[in-house]
Amino acid sequence: MTGETQNRNREKVLSIKDLSVNFKTENGLVQALRRVSIDIPPKQIVGLVGESGCGKSTVINSILRLLSNNAEIIQGSIHLQNKNILMMTSTQLRAIRGKRISVIFQDPMTSLNPALSIGRQMTDIQYRDQINQVAKRQRAIDMLTRVGIPDAEKRLKSYPHQFSGGMRQRIAIAMALIMEPDLLIADEPTTALDATLQIQIIELLKTLQKEFRCSVLFVSHHLGLVADFCDQVVVMYAGEVVESGNVRDIFHRAAHPYTKRLLECDPARIKTKTRVLPTIPGYIPDLVNLSDDCIFKDRCHVKDNKCPLTVAPLTELTPGHFVQCHLSQEGENL
Ligand SMILES: Nc1ncnc2c1ncn2[C@@H]1O[C@H](COP(=O)(O)OP(=O)(O)OP(=O)(O)O)[C@@H](O)[C@H]1O
Ligand SMILES: [Mg+2]
Repeated sequence: MTGETQNRNREKVLSIKDLSVNFKTENGLVQALRRVSIDIPPKQIVGLVGESGCGKSTVINSILRLLSNNAEIIQGSIHLQNKNILMMTSTQLRAIRGKRISVIFQDPMTSLNPALSIGRQMTDIQYRDQINQVAKRQRAIDMLTRVGIPDAEKRLKSYPHQFSGGMRQRIAIAMALIMEPDLLIADEPTTALDATLQIQIIELLKTLQKEFRCSVLFVSHHLGLVADFCDQVVVMYAGEVVESGNVRDIFHRAAHPYTKRLLECDPARIKTKTRVLPTIPGYIPDLVNLSDDCIFKDRCHVKDNKCPLTVAPLTELTPGHFVQCHLSQEGENL
């Protein structure tokens, strides 16, 4: 690695560069990610948004090296500080999972074992630490208390099914943070919860992120939560990053036609009374047969005759605000 690359990586907890991932299927190669680059700076919350199927979970599974067997990483790197996760051995991966990078999913049962008590799981996860069982148990109690589990000491004996959905997600958060990771990945952590619980969980994550000083990669379809919770936002469309910037750039100065349409379709932002929720006309393109030009051109309301000819590079409009659209790069007000 060159000195310059090392310096750049030092300012980031995680840096994804030019990542392309295909899935082999009976119908051909699904080009799920194409040249995706995402930087996660220290102590920042980065939101990852985009319609269903645009590649958010594939990004996360690539970071965690949990891609399915039919996946093929075509190119790119994922640096955790100065180490490329894509080059790590399984021993090196085990050393970082749960310790330097941890994850919470939409369904907390994905990270909790239904057959073991919460106390057992919370102490087992500390297996790398050279402290005695009493200290591990105490740490588990403290962590459960911090995430708002009442009477945590008594509840250590309980099993996951003995908690409500919201409480289970709190426990999953406690498990994810107990080893004080550098990066917490949250893939739609509140989608299965009702509106009040969603806000409670986000408030909890906000508080804990400040206390633990970790970075967060937050995937959500709920743009209101992203606006409220995140510092930076990355917008993906059909396997590509089409725009990224700080939360104000994206929510107040969106430059890509897709980001604009996505915001217009957000129920929380619709000002006129309507019984029909707006949607972006058309569908995500078939990721098997892709052309090399603008990925959004078939659904774009402002495209011109240059669009099918040009793949605009991701270009910095203002410091930190990147967009992949030649029209917005030319200063058009879309
Ligand atoms: N194992 C797989 N085999 C084949 N195609 C896959 C596989 N996993 C994902 N895909 C495809 O890759 C694309 C990206 O999927 P991904 O799950 O990353 O999207 P997503 O943005 O997380 O969607 P959602 O918001 O619905 O969770 C989709 O076209 C999906 O069908
Ligand atoms: Mg997903």
